[in-house]
Amino acid sequence: GKGQHRHFMVKEIFEQPQVIGDTLNTMLNPATRTLTLPAVPFDLGAVSKVTIVACGTSFYAGSVARYWIEKLARVAVEVEIASEFRYREPVLSPGGLAIFISQSGETADTLAALRYCKAHGQHTLALVNVAESTIARESEVALLTQAGPEIGVASTKAFTTQLVVLAGIAVSMARAKGKMDAAEEARLCQALAEVPANVSAVLRQEHRLREIAETIAPARDVIYLGRGTGYPIALEGALKLKEVSYIHAEGYASGELKHGPIALIDDHVPIIVVCPTDELYEKTASNVQEVVARGGKVVFLSDKQGIDRLATKALATVELPQVDPFVAPILYAIPVQLLAYHVAIAKGTDVDQPRNLAKSVTVE
Ligand code: M6R
Repeated sequence: GKGQHRHFMVKEIFEQPQVIGDTLNTMLNPATRTLTLPAVPFDLGAVSKVTIVACGTSFYAGSVARYWIEKLARVAVEVEIASEFRYREPVLSPGGLAIFISQSGETADTLAALRYCKAHGQHTLALVNVAESTIARESEVALLTQAGPEIGVASTKAFTTQLVVLAGIAVSMARAKGKMDAAEEARLCQALAEVPANVSAVLRQEHRLREIAETIAPARDVIYLGRGTGYPIALEGALKLKEVSYIHAEGYASGELKHGPIALIDDHVPIIVVCPTDELYEKTASNVQEVVARGGKVVFLSDKQGIDRLATKALATVELPQVDPFVAPILYAIPVQLLAYHVAIAKGTDVDQPRNLAKSVTVE
């Protein structure tokens, strides 16, 4: 049941420190600060290319993984929406690894993409939350998120636990490729080990996010911005808001702003900015300046250093813990979930059963 919570969505948001910890326990050794994936029956060091296929929120998890795997393991990664991938007869070379991300393990388009990749000589790896699902059974290897059953139609804990396993895949592949020394592995493992406590710290900002959500609720359109791994988090934030509040929301790469979307900005459009302190911070911060200069109402999600350094004062700030940029996307998923939830509450929508949506999309 929902326990003391009003909806499954918020119950599942608050389960994240626990289920992220459970998922980390399947691969992380905190004492030695090393990471070992459950058995993968082929050599990750020999993978020539990675193709990630998924839908919806799972696709955004894959989009974060692209940055991680390319940066750490120096292997080319393609990420694609399953419904497009399956029909375009993609060219796949031998030695490639195809990863299918699916909470349910039953999404029809993702399953069709898996069958295509198997038929075209790819190694196949499923990342699912349901061990006995079709996608898990038909893949060469299945890695499991330990999210437990996810009831809310809007995916929350499945997403962050997917990110944890994908981070593990990136680290393992980097090591297998000889691109990562023990010191770097130890640093990243330490950052991962601290994620549950840091997620708890973000959850303690719920009251602040609720206040901000009440100011967003009357909006007709909301824009989300991010760069690097913050970009898929912006997309995920926009999807979450659409799903549960029915407000039109779009995520953009911050650098794309001046190529069109900036025309949308006036003082009625809230702009949620995902901006941890990382090597792209300055770039995104200067986009914030451009938006504020045009009357945009900015909600700035950052850490203490990032908030202090911001020249233009954002209208609303939410302070997240200062973390290694590697794990930032996992943390920044939380405030966008809570914002969507509280906007939905303010609007009185059916949070756990949004109109027109099904939990599992088993038809194409
Ligand atoms: O079960 P899957 O992960 O394959 O589902 C994919 C999407 O249908 C799913 O993530 C959907 O976008 C959610 N409603 C997002 O909140």
